[in-house]
Amino acid sequence: MCGIIGINSNRPVSVSIINSLKKLEYRGYDSAGIATLSDGLINEVKSEGRVDNLEKNSLIQSMNGTIGIGHVRWATHGAPNSINAHPHSSQNVSVVHNGIIENSTLLKKYLIGKGHKFKSQTDTEVIVHLITENLKNENIAESIKKTLKALHGSFALGIIFKDQPDLIIGARRGSPLAVGYGPNENYLGSDSYALKSMTNKITYLGDGEFCILKKDFVEFFDEEGNKINKKVLELSSDEKKYDKGDYKHFMAKEIEEQPLTLKNGIKEYIDSRNNDINIYNFPWKKSELSSITLIGCGTAYHSCLMAKYWFEELTSLNVSVDIASEFRYRKNRFKDDTLYTFVSQSGETADTYAALDICKKANMKTCAVVNVIESSIARDSDFVLPIHCGPEVGVASTKAFLGQILILYMLALKIGSIRDDIKKSIFNEKLKNLIDLPKLAEKTLATDNKIQSISSIFNDVKGSMFLGRGYSYPIALEGALKLKELSYVHAEGYPAGEMKHGPLALIEEGLPVVVLAPRDNYYKKTISNMQEVIARGAKVLLITNKSKDEVLSENIWETIEVETTNEDLLPFLLTIPLQKLAYYSALKKGFDIDKPRNLAKSVTVE
Ligand code: M6R
Repeated sequence: MCGIIGINSNRPVSVSIINSLKKLEYRGYDSAGIATLSDGLINEVKSEGRVDNLEKNSLIQSMNGTIGIGHVRWATHGAPNSINAHPHSSQNVSVVHNGIIENSTLLKKYLIGKGHKFKSQTDTEVIVHLITENLKNENIAESIKKTLKALHGSFALGIIFKDQPDLIIGARRGSPLAVGYGPNENYLGSDSYALKSMTNKITYLGDGEFCILKKDFVEFFDEEGNKINKKVLELSSDEKKYDKGDYKHFMAKEIEEQPLTLKNGIKEYIDSRNNDINIYNFPWKKSELSSITLIGCGTAYHSCLMAKYWFEELTSLNVSVDIASEFRYRKNRFKDDTLYTFVSQSGETADTYAALDICKKANMKTCAVVNVIESSIARDSDFVLPIHCGPEVGVASTKAFLGQILILYMLALKIGSIRDDIKKSIFNEKLKNLIDLPKLAEKTLATDNKIQSISSIFNDVKGSMFLGRGYSYPIALEGALKLKELSYVHAEGYPAGEMKHGPLALIEEGLPVVVLAPRDNYYKKTISNMQEVIARGAKVLLITNKSKDEVLSENIWETIEVETTNEDLLPFLLTIPLQKLAYYSALKKGFDIDKPRNLAKSVTVE
């Protein structure tokens, strides 16, 4: 992961670098650092922990360089401390890096042989010494080209040089990097968001490209060092959406924003006057598709799993689902009539991008369901379906999940109707239900007080289980993931019908088990599975939907009821109490909700 920033200006840049680093903290928050050039020297200041710590460092005040680079780190090589924090510098060169250098051990050995001394345990430091070594015999451009060629793995780099008061080099392979243009100054950043307060004029570096960034101009080069022209994009400004407002945490705000996410998605895609779903410019004819493969990581993978149930129910397509980090290394049997669909909030997840890249190289049909429409996955897919939920800042994905499953549901419905897999009357009925969904989500959000007190169930427990069947199974997985990442409680998501094939052995007196049993096709089966865990001492929290019929089971510890709608849409509503359970449980424990330990919002390394 990690976030990088570079500014080349006529004014002191350290304050602006720190401000941009705060915006990049979603990429990592183990340590932060900055290096500027002044009086022909590289000055470096680094701190363990958050950017706030770096900002408080008294040495920052005296940094008056007009050119500099900064970094927030998510540790891959070496502990998260101030020595391993970036930038890493020799006397001549200073480097910030996002990515992983896979041949760093070999390169380090070679460089030590040449007399270079290493201070950190990072892979990044080899880049510093390699450039320094190459500079002995080459000019800057040649030494950079030679260095980049020698590196295996992924990187986005920002580099400054002691003897070059008007030069930042930016380079990327795998990890994303953007250039921004300002008045008499130019910028480098891991994303456009970090640069937004300074400019909305952006160019994204392509894979393998590098740039020479001066105060007054920027030049771009391909992997071979040939000069290339790049487009400048003008981005719209949505700064306000990054504000927490009155909420204590971004996550709390993002949970509450979910009815709006649904409303926006519906407004964007549903033509209620003509009872239709508009997916404009879909590039393939129905005869060209006979299957769909859905690929993602983490929560986005759960969206894919959810979509599998809908695609199977509503269309005649063959459906498969894959975890991106598995897909990218498997021997895939690519098929021309398959739509490879990549689901990602950030659009920058390294494994998902790599899976897309493999499909593109095999000339497959690719589609992206993303939130960040300027992202690499969106830019490099044949077709993009944006989820329109606005920036998601909390590391735990909430509104993006609902946004993703909404788009995937509408895609399934649309494909099902085009292929005549579902009757028009059923399509119309489902569309009507969908239009009512935001209201139901709003009502479901109102069950707040009960969930707050129930969330104590996860205090001081050894573990917990989340069970569901059918449509509720992917939601059980998502509920368990939310609890793990926020409350640091072991949580296992399981298909309820599988319990007797092993996991039932885990059930003991008082173990919290969250059972998702909405009144759908699976209801009776799930209730039976629930009784089996109750009989073995589990403390069961049942999540179902409102109904005139009472739940026929004894000894349920607590019940939460969400609003009622058709079976397809219940997963949207069941998700909400699970997000809140995880949120309140972490809140009670005093954990950092928006930045849980060891995680980052955008996983841009393998
Ligand atoms: O940006 P992406 O949707 O591609 O991210 C994928 C996962 O890293 C992400 O969903 C992660 O699992 C979340 N932290 C879960 O809340």
